[in-house]
Amino acid sequence: MISEESTKIGWSAPSNIALIKYWGKRAHQLPENGSLSITLDKSATTTFLTFQKKDEKVEKISLNYYFQGERHPKFETKTARLLHYLRSEMPFLPDYELVFHSENNFPHSTGIASSASSMAALALCLVSMEEIINHQKRSKDDFFRRASTIARLGSGSASRSVFGGIVTWGCNESIAASSDEYATPFQLHNGSRLNHIRDIILIVSTKVKNLSSSSGHALMNVHPYREGRIKQANTNLEKISNAIRNDDYLRIMEISENEALSLHALLFTSASDGLLLKPETLHIIEEIKQFRESNGLDLFFTIDAGPNVHLIYYDDQREIVLPFVQQRLSRYCENGQWIDDKIGTGPLLLTPETDS
Ligand code: DP6
Repeated sequence: MISEESTKIGWSAPSNIALIKYWGKRAHQLPENGSLSITLDKSATTTFLTFQKKDEKVEKISLNYYFQGERHPKFETKTARLLHYLRSEMPFLPDYELVFHSENNFPHSTGIASSASSMAALALCLVSMEEIINHQKRSKDDFFRRASTIARLGSGSASRSVFGGIVTWGCNESIAASSDEYATPFQLHNGSRLNHIRDIILIVSTKVKNLSSSSGHALMNVHPYREGRIKQANTNLEKISNAIRNDDYLRIMEISENEALSLHALLFTSASDGLLLKPETLHIIEEIKQFRESNGLDLFFTIDAGPNVHLIYYDDQREIVLPFVQQRLSRYCENGQWIDDKIGTGPLLLTPETDS
């Protein structure tokens, strides 16, 4: 039995693509190394949370999770696990019936990190709910920092999706206010070309990869190159931060590609079948390098833990990049599929319509 009227909250949160990769974690969802990503614009998850007070006090958390209109047992279990963990932080959770309705506006299994956008949208809904129930309005900074912390507990990369622009996560001496607990937006100066950075996602394969990110992170605990990797990633983060501040776009390109290839080198040399790249992935990399050299450009590629390639370039190169993708790269994509995205401004509150 439930009483009182229900309340509905909705957030849309974008996905992100990391240039410096989070790979390996310790304790409860803390990163072994710092990371840096671009928050995307179009590729997002929209989540609505409806909550209604239960009549009787029951200790168990009650929730239903719908994905693209249908009950989704896997997401329900994942969400239940997170909410259970959050019970000491959010003691009101068992007092409510919770219903989540979530949708992605990008195709499933396209190599876009859906856990990043979905966990970010979920965390934002939970922190909004907390504010409503506790009749407590946080400052904007506190609100998003808390949402980033909660999102991190659901999925590490989701901590970064709570902010727009370029975002870092993980303590690093060269980045003021950086933390392992939550992500921090990276301040770009007005003239930085990164304000106009774009991402074309080349879908080499839509097959679900046989290595979940959680198992991938776990491989790092016993990886022979573990120590070296932590050092390399933190140094790369420091170097890319300086390169961004100094508008050194060639250096940004070099470091980003080094990170993508390092991630896969770690996968190849893991105690598991870590060969996630496909022949098409390598063809695309070759084409990008040739195109870049013959046109004197500073665009580059990055890859997550899968075969799909992100072509990162700047708005002022769009006229020459689009025909290159259509004529040279789309042939390596499954059914010629690619997604046209760019840097975005971060999550959007859909309902209730206040200025959180
Ligand atoms: C290769 O954030 O998906 O995309 O914390 O286990 O949910 P969990 O892992 P997840 O890992 C992302 C790894 C990566 C690199 C990155 O986004 O930084």
